[in-house]
Amino acid sequence: MTTSPAVEALSSLPVLSDRTAYEAASQRLREASRSYYADGDSAMDDTTYDRLRLAVLAWESENPDEVPADSPTGLVADGAAPVGDVAHTTRLLSLDNVFDAEGLVAWGASVQRRLGRAPAGGFSVEPKIDGAAVAARYRDGRLVQVITRGDGSHGEDVSHVVGQIDGLPERLAAPVTVEVRGEVAFTQEQFETANEVRTAHGAQVFVNPRNGTAGTLRAKDRPYRLRMTFWAYGVVELDGVPFLPAGATHAEALAAVATAGVRTTASSAAGLLVVADLAEAQARVDAITAMRADLPVGIDGVVIKLNETAEQEAAGFGTRFPHWAIAVKLPAVERQTVLQDVVWEVGRTGVLAPTALLAPVEIDGSTVTRATLHNPADIRRRDLHLGDTVTVYKAGDIIPRVQAAVVRLRPAGATPVPLPEACPRCGGEINATQERWRCARGTACALPALIEYAAGREMLDIDGLGRTYVAALVESGDVRDVADLFTLTIEQLTAASGSAKRAAKLAEQIEAARTRPLNRVFCALGVLGTGRSMSRRIARHFGTMEAIRGADAAGMQDVEGIGPEKAPVVVEQVAALAPVIDKLIAAGVNMTEPEAASAGPGGGPLEGKVVVVTGRMAGPLDGFGRSEMNALIEKAGGRAGSSVNARTSILVAAPSANGKPSSKAVKAAELGVEVLTPEDFAELVADQLASG
Ligand code: IVH
Repeated sequence: MTTSPAVEALSSLPVLSDRTAYEAASQRLREASRSYYADGDSAMDDTTYDRLRLAVLAWESENPDEVPADSPTGLVADGAAPVGDVAHTTRLLSLDNVFDAEGLVAWGASVQRRLGRAPAGGFSVEPKIDGAAVAARYRDGRLVQVITRGDGSHGEDVSHVVGQIDGLPERLAAPVTVEVRGEVAFTQEQFETANEVRTAHGAQVFVNPRNGTAGTLRAKDRPYRLRMTFWAYGVVELDGVPFLPAGATHAEALAAVATAGVRTTASSAAGLLVVADLAEAQARVDAITAMRADLPVGIDGVVIKLNETAEQEAAGFGTRFPHWAIAVKLPAVERQTVLQDVVWEVGRTGVLAPTALLAPVEIDGSTVTRATLHNPADIRRRDLHLGDTVTVYKAGDIIPRVQAAVVRLRPAGATPVPLPEACPRCGGEINATQERWRCARGTACALPALIEYAAGREMLDIDGLGRTYVAALVESGDVRDVADLFTLTIEQLTAASGSAKRAAKLAEQIEAARTRPLNRVFCALGVLGTGRSMSRRIARHFGTMEAIRGADAAGMQDVEGIGPEKAPVVVEQVAALAPVIDKLIAAGVNMTEPEAASAGPGGGPLEGKVVVVTGRMAGPLDGFGRSEMNALIEKAGGRAGSSVNARTSILVAAPSANGKPSSKAVKAAELGVEVLTPEDFAELVADQLASG
C-alpha cells in the first residue's frame, strides 16, 4: 500500500521532548487559532497546524497526568473562536480526522466497539466543505437567525449575512420551524468576484476562500456585500417543533431540508452516497478525491457518518467530536511559503510573464518552487513584497499560483515586488497600456526565439539553423518572420553562416521543409496556446490552411480542447498572421494535412479516449519519447493526458525496473482505469503505427 501525500506531509512530525516544548507547542496552536478567528488571517497553514496538533496529542497520550484542563486539544476551535452570546440548541461539534485508509478502518473498529456490533444502517459519504460552520434557524419558514460555531455551546449572531448566501433562502417552501447546520464558503467563482470587489474598494485580497468566509461572516459594516454559498450537513429540532419523521436517516434528513429549499452537501457536485461498508466508503473517498480539482468549491476532506439515527445515538459523542462521524482529510492544496524572488520571461509574442520563485514547499504530493503571478496589475493588487510569506494554491494538474501575502508575517523593511522598467529580453521599451505588459517591439523582440522554435525538429525541422545562425539572419534584417526563411538566397545564407558550404546545406534543408505537413507549419507560426498537440488537432480537424483561416470562433471550438475562451484568441491570432501565411503560400510551403481525412470523425481505435503514458516504452514502441507517443495517440483518434484522473481512459505503463508500480499505476488502479503494457498498446494502434 502506498502512503498518501497527506500522510507523507505529516510523517515528519515534530517530537516534543519535554514539558516546556509541549507548552510552547500548545501556545502556538492557541495563537494560530486566535489569529485565524480574530481576523480570518492564519499565521500557519493547515499542514503545519495538523503536524503540530498531532505532536501535542502524542505528548499528551504519553503524559496523561500532566495534561492541563485548558489544553487546546480538548476544546472546540482550540478555545480560541470568538464565543458570542447565542446559546446553541445542542452543542455544535467539530469532527475528528483521519488521514488515510488505515485511519478509516481504525475508526470503523472504534464504532463497532461502541455499538457492540457492526453498523447495520450503512454509512453516508459526503464532501467536507472547506468553509465556516453556521447554524441557521428557520421559524415558520422564515430565516430568523444565523449563528457561528463559537466554542460549540455559544456562537456569534451573524444574521446580517441573511440574503447574501446562496442556498440559504430567506423563506422556505413551507412554513416549517427547524435549525439547519452546515458550512458557508465561497465557491471558486464567488471568491474571484469577492477579491475583485475588495481590491476595487482598496481592501486586501483574501488569503484563501476559507479565511475570507470567516472574515466575511464577522464583518458587519463593510461598504460592500459579498455572496457566499451554504451547504447543510445536519438538522436539529428547534423550539420542540418536530421536523423529521421519527427514525429518519441522515440522508433522509438532508433530503427533507433540500425539499424545503436549502442547499445540502447531497446537492453539491460531489453529492452524498450511502454505502454498506467502509471498503465502499473508501472507494467513494477516492472518487471524490479524483473530482476535487474540478469541484466548484474547495473541499478539505470527505466526511463519513453512520446513516441510521439510532446507531448515531448508540455511538454517542465525545467532548469535541461525535463518535459516529469521521473526516478523512485530503492533502492540503494550499500551503504557506516564502516569496524569494520574481523573474520575468518574455513570451513569443512579447508578453512579459512574471513567475514567483518560492522556498520549496510540498503541496498535494509535489514540491513547488515556482508559481504564476499573472501580470503586474495582479502583483500590485495582491500587494506582494519580496520576502513575504505567501499562500500558494495548487490542485491536481493546475499550475501553482500565489494567492496572497500573509501581511502579519511580513519582515520589517520588505520592499514591494519591483516591476521591470525595460524589456527583460531586449532592454527596449515596455508597452504597459494593458494589464498584460508587452515589449513594445512585440513579436520582433521574440523573433530570434520564434525562428529557432519554428526551425525546431518537431516543427519545420531545418537542421543546422542554430542560435548563432538565426541571430545573424535576424540582425541583418534578412529574416523578419518565419516565411522569410523560404526566400533566403544563397548569398544571404552565406553571409549569415560565413561559409558557402554550410549555406548550400541549409538551402537543401529549407527546401525539404517546404513539404512538411500542415500541423508542423501551423505550429511553426507560434500561435499562442497551440503547441504540438493542439496544432496537430487543428490541422487534422480542418485539413487545410484555407479552412483554418476560414473558421470563426464557433468553428474553432469544434476542435477538441479548444473552449470558448481560447477559440477567439486563436482566430484573432491566425487573422493577425495573414501576411506571414500569405508569404508562406507564395513561397510554395505545403498547406495541407495528409492524414486529415483518414483520421477524421469516427476514425481511430482511441476515438474519444484520453490516454496517459508513463515509464520507458518497449517492444514496437521502443525509443518512443513523450512527443512521439502523443502523436501516435492523436493519430489513433485519442487525446494525450499528463496525469491520471477521473477522465483518463487508458494508462500505458511500462513495468518499472524495481517491480514497484509507479504512482500513476497506483492511481489508475484506484480509479479503475484500464492499464496497458506498451506491447498491448502497440497492438491496439497497430494500423496507425504501421502507417508511419
Ligand atoms: S458533520 C456533529 N459534515 O468540518 C457533526 N461537517 O472540521 C458535525 N464540515 O465543524 C459536522 N463539511 O464545520 C460535517 N459534510 C460535512 C461537513 C462538515 C464541512 C465542517 C464542519 C465541522 C468541521 C470539522
